[in-house]
Amino acid sequence: MRDYKWRLQENVISDADLELLVHFIRTTKRFTQFTKVREFEEAFAAWQGCKYCIMVNSGSSANLVAVAVAKEMHGWSSGDEVLVPAVTWPTTVTPVMQLGLKPVFVDVNLRDLSFDYDALENAVTRQTKAVFAPHLLGFPADVARLKAVCASHGLILLEDCCESQGAVVEGAKVGNHGLAGTFSFYWGHHMTTVEGGMICTNDDEVRDLALLKRSHGLARELPQDAHAALRRRYSDVVFDFLFLTDGFNVRNTEFNAVLGLAQLARLDDFIRIRNRNYTRFLEICTPFEDELILLRGLGMSAFVLPFVFRDVARKTAFEAILRRAGIESRPLISGNLLRQPVFSTFGESCDFPNAEYLHLHAFYIGNNQFVEAERLAALQELMGAFFARPTGVAR
Ligand SMILES: Cc1ncc(COP(=O)(O)O)c(C=O)c1O
Repeated sequence: MRDYKWRLQENVISDADLELLVHFIRTTKRFTQFTKVREFEEAFAAWQGCKYCIMVNSGSSANLVAVAVAKEMHGWSSGDEVLVPAVTWPTTVTPVMQLGLKPVFVDVNLRDLSFDYDALENAVTRQTKAVFAPHLLGFPADVARLKAVCASHGLILLEDCCESQGAVVEGAKVGNHGLAGTFSFYWGHHMTTVEGGMICTNDDEVRDLALLKRSHGLARELPQDAHAALRRRYSDVVFDFLFLTDGFNVRNTEFNAVLGLAQLARLDDFIRIRNRNYTRFLEICTPFEDELILLRGLGMSAFVLPFVFRDVARKTAFEAILRRAGIESRPLISGNLLRQPVFSTFGESCDFPNAEYLHLHAFYIGNNQFVEAERLAALQELMGAFFARPTGVAR
């Protein structure tokens, strides 16, 4: 069988990107966070359509800072609850635990992969403070429903957009609908800085707290116009070493920002090609809808090509065929998180039937700006041959 060498991730850094980096390294005197990071943040805010962006060293760090900021701003106490879905990347959830809050898992739906919205409403208690809603695999969650739940219970909405950069819902890009939105620029995401992340917000207080928490809690990280008053107020401490809150060090570097600026300029093209691939993928899958559940996302910014089989044995058989053809696959994100040892004390996996379904029935293959018609045609051929055969298993 031919080896299509269709990897989950491919090298998305172009020769031009490399030239730019080499030139930057040869000509700069400053490698730590400085003007390039600021330039990238401003360009990203213009692209995203929000007031402020704060660059960090990963999407996970963006989540950590976003939850820490919300906790401090709203005075949440240890044990206060944050609603999270049973399917997402673990670092949507772990910051909640790391900050002494309690993640309360809610099942997902099989249309946009976000929360089962009825279950979300039912999971709210007097301790609930926030909903941390990821937009998964490029599909925007139903933001109107999320906002309605938040509004009726006085909850804060945080959006994890690490897999859905550029997806649009309710007339605006994901990440602009709650207190803050987070993004990942890890290798394999819509655009990359190799490692990197961003926190987006329209709120001045979130911006200030995120700037502080990104960098040790240092007052000098705040915008210049805040400095004079702080110098007067804390005149007994040298201003450059004045710590206003508990912080991390999750800064990024000038190299990553240079790469980010170059990739951002091509991002709309990348997203257009990913979406074109996904549309073609849906066309290929549609004749086999009796065996596959298709995810059709209005406003999507396609991330990968997901397969959700109605029959587990058929899924296993087809995944093996793809493997033999050199087409890599992996579980849908991290499967049912309640099966992961790290989260097992937060519930029984069987109480989250849709997450369990995705754990057993789903996988995905890669999609990016280099996936071309030839590979999609090969996929169509493999699928045609596979689905033409009798299943041989009860459905
Ligand atoms: C939904 C989601 N959140 C957070 C992250 C973490 O991003 P990073 O790998 O940049 O830390 C990822 C990573 O893929 C993700 O898919």
